[in-house]
Amino acid sequence: MNREDIVCACLGITYGEIEDAVKDGVRTYEELEERTGVGTICGLCVDSVKEMLEGLL
Ligand code: FES
Repeated sequence: MNREDIVCACLGITYGEIEDAVKDGVRTYEELEERTGVGTICGLCVDSVKEMLEGLL
């Protein structure tokens, strides 16, 4: 993944934003959702974003 790759199409959230959230201390999907809103519109990105987050922890 590149930092500019979109991981949540509904909100235009990029892989780089997920990386930055982890660098800033986000450790769970719930924290990531609170911080970015990821997955809160159609929900289609939830499983793949969860996998990405695990890969970054
Ligand atoms: S793609 Fe992430 S909420 Fe729709």
